[in-house]
Amino acid sequence: ALARTYNTKAHKNNQRSYTYVQPHASYKVAILGASGGIGQPLALLVKMSPLVSSLNLYDIANVKGVAADLSHCNTPSQVADFTGASELANCLKGANVVVIPAGVPRKPGMTRDDLFNINANIVKTLIEAVADNCPDAFIHIISNPVNSTVPIAAEVLKQKGVYDPKKLFGVTTLDVVRANTFVAQKKNLKLIDVDVPVVGGHAGITILPLLSKTKPSVTFTDEEVQELTVRIQNAGTEVVEAKAGAGSATLSMAYAAARFVESSLRALDGDSDVYECSYIQSDVNELPFFASRIKLGKNGVEAVISSELEGLTEYEQKALEALKPELKASIEKGVAFVQKQP
Ligand code: NAI
Repeated sequence: ALARTYNTKAHKNNQRSYTYVQPHASYKVAILGASGGIGQPLALLVKMSPLVSSLNLYDIANVKGVAADLSHCNTPSQVADFTGASELANCLKGANVVVIPAGVPRKPGMTRDDLFNINANIVKTLIEAVADNCPDAFIHIISNPVNSTVPIAAEVLKQKGVYDPKKLFGVTTLDVVRANTFVAQKKNLKLIDVDVPVVGGHAGITILPLLSKTKPSVTFTDEEVQELTVRIQNAGTEVVEAKAGAGSATLSMAYAAARFVESSLRALDGDSDVYECSYIQSDVNELPFFASRIKLGKNGVEAVISSELEGLTEYEQKALEALKPELKASIEKGVAFVQKQP
């Protein structure tokens, strides 16, 4: 039922696979940054999952109340709260999926890269603890700038000798969710049917919706392609400006992150039909990290659907070439941040 809610089957034109029928609560999910704008609604949505048995909530403040509140929902998972660095290890032990929305969000006029100095350190510290306590977990990075924080996480995990590139994910699901919504609105399609792959990275022009690969098949005028692409790329800024200083996307982000958690849990649970777009270590082109559609399995990334990057329109091909220098610089900035530390 949740797969329908999160509309993850649309790429198959709703041909639901019935090989997977038996969700049962047995997985432990940890959310780091759980009392924040994303963390709270994300924790609620994860609390609704039939696949979760333990929901561990960590933050540096205010997490006790969030956990007490959520624990009254009569869904299967047990909620536990962990406050501050001394409780982080216990939060992480045995986790199957760790989701990281910890860090500061944008204010009007800021780019995601403006968050680098604060969030890079937060992600580094949290990933060190993940490496020490649950190195086998799927790691979902939400904290921006995702284009750099994922390479930071990879470097930290490498230094700790536990890096598994198949299990480290930058969460770009919100870009897909937005693309699906905007295309459905523009073309008067039923929302549940629409699936637009979004590739590249997660900031400005590095966000590249492949509108030509939209399912169901639909044609766009050049003007529509331009308008939709720009809107999808700037959708985060649309929310930042509407919130006027009170933060960035939190509710739609929580929805998107919960969809990615649910997909990961279904994959861990043996569903062999789970596809999502995510920013991962990749060899689809010369960039070491790149978002594209992946097949998820028990061990993480099972396959990269690189065929989707073939046969691009001229517009998409140009946009792909244009995004590469910025994405490359963001990746290098993340790697350098970890490597230059003593
Ligand atoms: P927020 O400020 O409302 O919440 C952040 C939470 O992180 C707070 O509860 C704070 O106490 C906590 N935190 C700070 N330092 C921490 C540490 N060292 N350990 C654990 N927790 C810590 O921010 P919001 O709106 O929830 O955004 C969080 C992050 O998500 C931001 O970096 C934002 O840019 C990013 N984001 C990413 C998106 C994506 O598509 N990947 C979309 C929207 C936001």
